[in-house]
Amino acid sequence: MLAQVLSCAVLGLDGVPVQVQVDVTDGGPFFIVVGLPDASVNESRERVRAAIKNSGHFFPLKRITVNLAPGDLRKEGPAYDLPMAIGLLQASDQLTADLSDAMIIGELSLDGTVRHTNGVLSMAMQAQAAGLKRLFVPASDAPEAALISGLDVYPIESLFALYAHLQGLQPIAPQRTGLDFQPDSTAPNACDFQEVRGQEHVKRALEIAAAGAHNLIMTGPPGAGKTLLARAFPSILPQLTLNEALEVTRIYSVADMLPNDMPLMRYRPFRAPHHTISHAGLVGGGRWPRPGEISLAHRGVLFLDELPEFDARSLEAMRQPLEGERIVSISRAQGSLTFPANFLLLAAMNPCPCGYYGHPTKECTCASAQIVRYQKKISGPLLDRIDIHITVPPVEYEKLSGDRLGEPSAKIQARVEKARGKQRGRFEKAGVTNLQANADMGPAEVRQFCELDDAGKQLMRAAMKQMNMSARAFHRILKLARTIADLAECEKIGTHHLAEAVQYRSRSQE
Ligand SMILES: Nc1ncnc2c1ncn2[C@@H]1O[C@H](COP(=O)(O)OP(=O)(O)O)[C@@H](O)[C@H]1O
Ligand SMILES: [Mg+2]
Repeated sequence: MLAQVLSCAVLGLDGVPVQVQVDVTDGGPFFIVVGLPDASVNESRERVRAAIKNSGHFFPLKRITVNLAPGDLRKEGPAYDLPMAIGLLQASDQLTADLSDAMIIGELSLDGTVRHTNGVLSMAMQAQAAGLKRLFVPASDAPEAALISGLDVYPIESLFALYAHLQGLQPIAPQRTGLDFQPDSTAPNACDFQEVRGQEHVKRALEIAAAGAHNLIMTGPPGAGKTLLARAFPSILPQLTLNEALEVTRIYSVADMLPNDMPLMRYRPFRAPHHTISHAGLVGGGRWPRPGEISLAHRGVLFLDELPEFDARSLEAMRQPLEGERIVSISRAQGSLTFPANFLLLAAMNPCPCGYYGHPTKECTCASAQIVRYQKKISGPLLDRIDIHITVPPVEYEKLSGDRLGEPSAKIQARVEKARGKQRGRFEKAGVTNLQANADMGPAEVRQFCELDDAGKQLMRAAMKQMNMSARAFHRILKLARTIADLAECEKIGTHHLAEAVQYRSRSQE
């Protein structure tokens, strides 16, 4: 007899429906799985066999064929265990249930308990889009699936529990669906800005970066506090909006990095990979394409400390996501795949290999060719995408030893939040969807929202000529000036806003 159960694969971030067809006929005994299964799917046979027996059912000693359709999609992972087991119970007449409106997902333990599966949010979205009514998922993943409404989500503890539910012996109550969103304004493990002495101009630049999601690079000698400032940065980031939280959650769910007690991400990601990271680790990829750090930093911050130490090829691969659609394409044998990668790039570097080039008191020991080679490691096109270039000088003793604390992060964050709210309000009013911050604006929005008066136009003309600026730099300065005006609660961009924005860019040309 033949049984069919609907399950789901995840390709990139998207759920793709998979039909699990189970056929049991006389002969055998044997048990095969066809339809491009990988090794982990093939191992399902052993888990399904043991789970069925240990749940008190009978495992048929017959010819068992499981087909996973469509056949041209590679199947990986253990999430097909539970639908296979249910299909097998149906095909061997141990269970009768109409499952035409249901999707089943879950890995089985040998004792029949159902274990966590990654990518459940993407699968729930697929189930909803396909118009299904019921979704059976591992109990631990049910809160995540329940973020999607219009679908009854059932938390499943074990194979037997699902069997008993489907037979009407012991019905399971569906998980309450809908969004119970509480964003969190305090980022975990971030140090407070008030602990960082002096460096007021760097803090100002970081505030602007946070307010409009602009990229920023800090250059300065060792021990100046670059890493410290970067580590404090999450404490002034604006809260995630609901839409942003859903986007981020989908990525973390697929990467299997969703914190245990958090079905929905509540704060902006802050990723700080070490410079020894692999290319695939940074931009994404692998045999089963996984999101890389740039996607894990989506709607948050990617902090690259000691920027010139990173692999040049990986840095160049970041050029695409840093502009335009803010996505990364990963090519594979079966066509390319994209992940979202709209992150704020925060970078830090020393000015030269020894670190003391341009230092007020210490002498730099590098040869000039060495310095040039070091700085050339970061290409022009990449630098062009960084809006704020800031020098971090060594802290003076008086500032470091004084007991005057700086402004606390909470106060800075409140200003950032207000400025971000202004931006969202502006986009909404103009009917522009899917833009969250000024940095997300394309040329059309720049024209619409960054109008200059005559004095402003004149200033830009002079700056462009003097600094030999690219068209990209021109647009980026306007967006940055928009954010500076938003922080100052000005609807019009003034020349002083523009001048500050221009000055942040000019440092790279030193
Ligand atoms: N502005 C500052 N205020 C307080 N402490 C600082 C400051 N700058 C540096 N420090 C101290 O020096 C240490 C090293 O700073 P770090 O951020 O690692 O420097 P860098 O990354 O520029 O080499 C910090 O952990 C902190 O203890
Ligand atoms: Mg450092």
